[in-house]
Amino acid sequence: MNLMSRVTRLGCALAFCCLALVLWGVPGTRALNNGLAMTPTMGWLHWERFMCNVNCQEEPDSCISEKLFLQMADLMVSDGWKDAGYQYLCIDDCWMAPQRDSKGRLQADSNRFPNGIRHLADFVHSKGLKLGIYADAGNKTCAGYPGSYGYYDIDAKTFADWGVDLLKFDGCYCDSVKHLADGYKQMSLALNRTGRSIVYSCEWPLYAWPFVKPNYTEIRQYCNHWRNSADIYDSWQSVRSILDWTSSNQESVVPAAGPGGWNDPDMLVIGNFGLSQDQQVTQMALWAIMAAPLFMSNDLRHISPEAKGLLQNKDVIAINQDPLGKQGYRLRKNDNFEVWERPLSNLAWAVAVVNLQDIGGPRSYTIPIASLGKGLACNPACLITQLLPVKTKLGFYEWTKSLKTQINPTGTVLLRLESASKIASKSSL
Ligand SMILES: *[C@@H]1O[C@H](CO)[C@@H](O)[C@H](O)[C@H]1NC(C)=O
Ligand SMILES: *[C@@H]1O[C@H](CO)[C@@H](O)[C@H](O)[C@H]1NC(C)=O
Ligand SMILES: *[C@@H]1O[C@H](CO)[C@@H](O)[C@H](O)[C@H]1NC(C)=O
Repeated sequence: MNLMSRVTRLGCALAFCCLALVLWGVPGTRALNNGLAMTPTMGWLHWERFMCNVNCQEEPDSCISEKLFLQMADLMVSDGWKDAGYQYLCIDDCWMAPQRDSKGRLQADSNRFPNGIRHLADFVHSKGLKLGIYADAGNKTCAGYPGSYGYYDIDAKTFADWGVDLLKFDGCYCDSVKHLADGYKQMSLALNRTGRSIVYSCEWPLYAWPFVKPNYTEIRQYCNHWRNSADIYDSWQSVRSILDWTSSNQESVVPAAGPGGWNDPDMLVIGNFGLSQDQQVTQMALWAIMAAPLFMSNDLRHISPEAKGLLQNKDVIAINQDPLGKQGYRLRKNDNFEVWERPLSNLAWAVAVVNLQDIGGPRSYTIPIASLGKGLACNPACLITQLLPVKTKLGFYEWTKSLKTQINPTGTVLLRLESASKIASKSSL
């Protein structure tokens, strides 16, 4: 092929790409206007690993207490988590005293948080981290602590006064979908009125789904991220059911995601007890494809080098945090394989191939290159790098070629495809 025809072909391919990106690239809907979560939020959240353990007598190292969060804050900085992007240290349910104070304000349990939340926030900020807290739109939190119904403004102001940077707002003990929606909206407005920048993490669609199809256009206007599906457990079955839920509902949820507002498939359970190494790779790869907030729920004091390496993998985090901010989707499912893909900035794509068969050994799967990225990812060619399970440069692939992958049972191969036209235009400058 001579240079001229090559340039023309590249030019056409580029024009086609840009047109396509315009056609399905415009975020359909306005996000909550607080300037936050322009990429998915990253941090640590206590729930899946530590739940509602309030027994500090018997289990001083794993009860929900100031000490737990001070230790995690130290480790987030000393062990490279903060540098990898995990910035928000988040408290979930069970931090509260059973009663509000005499002025109607929420207060922390004084035995477990003897210095209060303000003190914890100051410490967390001194480490360059941010603090998240938890409350509930209904009459009680899920674990039965005081709910915020009737107290939205007071609670928002209390959190802002303490220096809180993120609120996870649950939806237990709400007696109607109307109260649920009103509660989520009112708290969003109340947070805004405090004048403090506070990431607003909602569970509105999760609680709405049994009654109505959630209006994601509306939810996106009030929340920075929103849970759609049930709480994650430390098991492959749980991870799989979240992936199934997301792909089954992808027409509704994928278009709702974008800078400022994200679908939240719940915490990363990597580094715990229930997932094999391959299943941990699958969770990390697919949470990157789904543009999911990355909240680890594990014990940073006891974590294997493999789990740590996976959670801190820069290439995978770069896909999760890609500035284009478009959520990926399931492209194909056949023979117990799933292929997912996600458009990235600079005309790059991420592709994940999951082997869902949990019997037997590694199986191979061959992808026609032309089927990826709506036919555009490798037109006329692309540079492919395997990122997971092990980083491997696979080299240039032309549009007409196929790529053969081999995947362990319940494992995933995650690939990054760089457009050759982009690389050619870069090198010709
Ligand atoms: C509150 O909302 C207004 C209007 O959307 C926005 O300009 C402002 O930045 C918001 N403030 C905070 C603290 O989120
Ligand atoms: C809270 O309880 C009161 C009194 O029972 C009830 O009127 C109200 O609707 C409840 N609020 C929610 C959000 O369930
Ligand atoms: C969803 O909410 C948006 C924004 O509030 C509104 O314009 C739209 O009509 C709603 N859609 C439906 C189907 O109710």
